[in-house]
Amino acid sequence: MKILMASSESLPFVKTGGLADMVSSLSIALAKKGHEVRIVIPRYYSVNRDGLRQLEGALGVPMGGIEEWCAVYKDILPGSPETNPVVVYFIDHERFFGRDGIYGVPSEPDFLDNPLRFAFFSKSVFQLCRKICWFPNILHAHDWPTAMVPVFLKYSERYSKEFAETASILTIHNLGYQGIYNKDNFNYTGLPWNVFYEAGFEDWSMMNLLKAGLYSADKLNTVSPTYAEETKTQAQGFRLDGVLRSREADYIGILNGVDTDIWNPVHDEFLPARYSVKDMDGKLKAKEVLQREFNLPQNPNIPIIGMVSRLTGQKGVGELFGPSYGSAYSICTAMDIQFVLVGSGEAWCENELRSLESRLSNLKARIGYSEYLSHLVEAGSDFFLMPSRYEPSGLNQMYSQLYGTLPIVRNTGGLADTVENYDENTGEGTGFMFDDLTPSAIFNTVGWAIWAYYNRRPQIEAMRLAGMKKDFSWQKSALEYIKLYEQTLLHLR
Ligand code: ADP
Ligand code: GLC
Repeated sequence: MKILMASSESLPFVKTGGLADMVSSLSIALAKKGHEVRIVIPRYYSVNRDGLRQLEGALGVPMGGIEEWCAVYKDILPGSPETNPVVVYFIDHERFFGRDGIYGVPSEPDFLDNPLRFAFFSKSVFQLCRKICWFPNILHAHDWPTAMVPVFLKYSERYSKEFAETASILTIHNLGYQGIYNKDNFNYTGLPWNVFYEAGFEDWSMMNLLKAGLYSADKLNTVSPTYAEETKTQAQGFRLDGVLRSREADYIGILNGVDTDIWNPVHDEFLPARYSVKDMDGKLKAKEVLQREFNLPQNPNIPIIGMVSRLTGQKGVGELFGPSYGSAYSICTAMDIQFVLVGSGEAWCENELRSLESRLSNLKARIGYSEYLSHLVEAGSDFFLMPSRYEPSGLNQMYSQLYGTLPIVRNTGGLADTVENYDENTGEGTGFMFDDLTPSAIFNTVGWAIWAYYNRRPQIEAMRLAGMKKDFSWQKSALEYIKLYEQTLLHLR
């Protein structure tokens, strides 16, 4: 099959979260299975044009009575199979993407012109295909930024011969972000106003991009089976549970995989030494380097709790770091542990972490983004904390298990699908889980893990090995996507 991924992020070019990992690693897995996969993303300011090849001529994109012009660049996705490389196209439009920030900047977290930026980008996908004379069987869009791709396909492009046999898939990576804007922006799509209502853009007189995508795509999925169920409930559906229930027959959950070429302790170049189930010495070495890196006392016998996270409500940081009520302070004072965090996000949380760091000698936070530290924390920690409010899939809990680090997670979404809770009687399990998102539930579950570390050490070591032996590779999930694509094409005919 010819598959085109339309995405706002793709590793290693641009990443704000797991979406970037998922789009690239799924594309590689599909290419390895012989499919012809291409990716299209915006050429943000942060993507250096020097290493890219420019396509000849400009690309014209008709938008509501005017024509926008842009350049197109391309590159090969690193890590893709040599005999069947994944080509990445970059849409280069100065006014929309020649600025700092992907979706926004700290002073303007959601750019006011995002509906225009991403309407343009979604439309450019079709013009790109015409330019390169390559028409996909499957157009695979991701989250609200490209949710208009299935809408353009259904309400306009499919009427042209070139896209008559193209099917669309929309993957939900996070229902919490829907792209809701003033409906005046709709004029820019160039679609007639009846489509505003028919396609389901209308949302209390606003324009909801994700909602229109959910109604228009041929098939929908999200990134874990449990999250697929949760999103159909009022409690976790972010007001779109009704839409998802109405499309139940076309909506499934497919768990994300891990790119084990990048996340694998056996050949991870970021680590001071490699390790495996057969020889765990490298993990101790990573712990030593981690303690040194974060200026913590060198002690192999004290358990380290690690975190790598966007600092936002979704990740449970309120219950953990909320001033006065968060549990991190009591965890660090009541337990003999070290706590390390790498992350960035909401300003209140970054400030609170700095404040906690000044009051606690065993908590260290590195505010910012670091690929190196994210690998070191995964390898050097004993436990990895993810008290997510909701988690569509989550990647870090999988990385943790592969690195012999036991996740402490809330029983939700992809966390529920990938971690097995510790059983004190049998010693089975690969992590520690709790149900309620409260400061005391986090405190108690971390306490339980630390108790086991000091009192049930053989069980802890056995759990580490059980986690490391798990198969989180894309093998299985890529096959599920292929099946979904095939079903969608059949459905179209
Ligand atoms: P989400 O996409 O919701 O943030 P995921 O668990 O799917 O959650 O993916 C997060 C990805 O981003 C992981 O690969 C994680 O290592 C990475 N990440 C998050 N914050 C940082 C950071 N500060 N530095 C380095 N990597 C980070
Ligand atoms: C989103 C979700 C995360 C998921 C990622 C990739 O950012 O929050 O759970 O792993 O997308 O699908």
